[in-house]
Amino acid sequence: MSEMERTRTAGTSIPPAVREDERTRQQLFLEELKTCIEQRKQETGRTPSFHITTMGCQMNARDSEKLAGVLTEIGAEETETEEADILLFNTCTVRENANQKLYGHLGQIKHFKNDHPDMLIGICGCMMQEADEVVRVRTSYRFVDLVFGTHNLWRFPELLYSCLAEKHRVIDTEERADDYADHMPVKRKLSFKSGVNITYGCNNFCTYCIVPYVRGRERSREPEDILAEIRALVKDGVKEVMLLGQNVNSYGKTLEIPVSFADLLRRTCRIGGLERIRFMTPHPKDLSDDLIEVMRTEPKVCRHIHLPLQSGSSRILERMNRHYTKESYLALVRRIRDKIPEIAVTTDIIVGFPGETEEDFQDTLDVVREVGYQAAFTFIYSKRTGTPAADFPDQADPEEVADRMKRLIDLVQSFASKAADRDTGKTLPVLVEEVNGQKEGYVSGRLSNNLMVHFPGDASLVGQIVDVELTESRGFYYMGRRRDQIWVI
Ligand code: SAH
Ligand code: SF4
Ligand code: F3S
Repeated sequence: MSEMERTRTAGTSIPPAVREDERTRQQLFLEELKTCIEQRKQETGRTPSFHITTMGCQMNARDSEKLAGVLTEIGAEETETEEADILLFNTCTVRENANQKLYGHLGQIKHFKNDHPDMLIGICGCMMQEADEVVRVRTSYRFVDLVFGTHNLWRFPELLYSCLAEKHRVIDTEERADDYADHMPVKRKLSFKSGVNITYGCNNFCTYCIVPYVRGRERSREPEDILAEIRALVKDGVKEVMLLGQNVNSYGKTLEIPVSFADLLRRTCRIGGLERIRFMTPHPKDLSDDLIEVMRTEPKVCRHIHLPLQSGSSRILERMNRHYTKESYLALVRRIRDKIPEIAVTTDIIVGFPGETEEDFQDTLDVVREVGYQAAFTFIYSKRTGTPAADFPDQADPEEVADRMKRLIDLVQSFASKAADRDTGKTLPVLVEEVNGQKEGYVSGRLSNNLMVHFPGDASLVGQIVDVELTESRGFYYMGRRRDQIWVI
């Protein structure tokens, strides 16, 4: 198998006309791939299968839906397990353990490929935007056939064609970020709920974070394009959307005709048939009063806000380049709760950032106590090469960090269960997401505040919004029963 390696480095953005040509080109490769898959089908007597293993955040989950869209359109069939003809790993590199997990896993996959040499293995996503990782895969994981990054995801039909039809090993990365991916076909994981990208990339450069380096500079999509995408989703059965961006609050500032995130949200609420709207992630440094007002007045906007704290110490926040303090964060939470008392607040917290002292950590615990989060994702600081914090002196002592982590989790949990108790006994709308895998005769769904509820029901309810009485709180979720069943039982 010959090897094609390419790193595209052109610095400027592609003009619209060329952009259109590129889209047409990818469409042609898509058509060619259909023939390719059909041929394989004739040869083997079965439809080629694909599987995508997705790591990381909602951005990656959405990208995987685009990859699945292409694979489905060319005639391949999605399968539950990694024993597939085409296996893709959509990677995350936000913490070191994500990388280690992938490499460990690839070792196992190699054995499977030894017995199935026709299998195609591809790696894409954020990790493949790091030159060192690409070199490592290229040289040490020779059985990987296809490598591409987030910036050239849209080129997937062309790259897959090189692999499948021309039998090349393809390693193709791009340093310039462009947004053709908006026009890729999409296969959603869930028929009734979807992510929608509103911005790509990030300009914030928090000193610990690799995302701006692997996702590029922040770009906002035109509001008309976003709204058109949501309208099409609603026509296709979607009831809930999640607007996605690394910092949704900075949406629209650099557009030719600037639009604020609050305005975009307002316009999204006007879409008939759309029932619920979530968004992820609002940065606490620039959450506007106008946004709080839209949340308060628009019932379609879910009663949940994910407001990453990272640290409760103003000193550490400054070293993290977060642009807010302990006090301004707490004041923001108070402002939100004043207007929307029933809102659930969740967060992300990093423990063991370089230079974090016990006193700094106590500040974090203070904020946890004061806010009483419904849930918190807690992470041990992970040193990411290339970020400013990787070169900070006084990297933390692992034993101390482990001890802090334990104390933090205990505190978070005690507040999380209290937050859930508050709504026990109420009857609230639930969007049913799935048949419960553990408890026969039950389904599971989400409240507007994002907590899960399990209650008696069957597959016919999946995708519907139904009123459920929350009969019992179990800390992080509820047991319930449908309102109209109360009279039946
Ligand atoms: N844009 C989002 C976060 C995206 S990354 C925001 O600003 O909130 C998701 C989470 O991963 C971050 O909130 C942070 O808590 C965590 N994270 C990012 N880099 C990390 C690192 N180097 N070590 C540990 N956790 C990290
Ligand atoms: Fe990373 Fe900060 Fe950007 Fe979030 S806002 S993606 S934490 S740099
Ligand atoms: Fe990970 Fe990339 Fe998201 S690094 S957290 S998958 S943007």
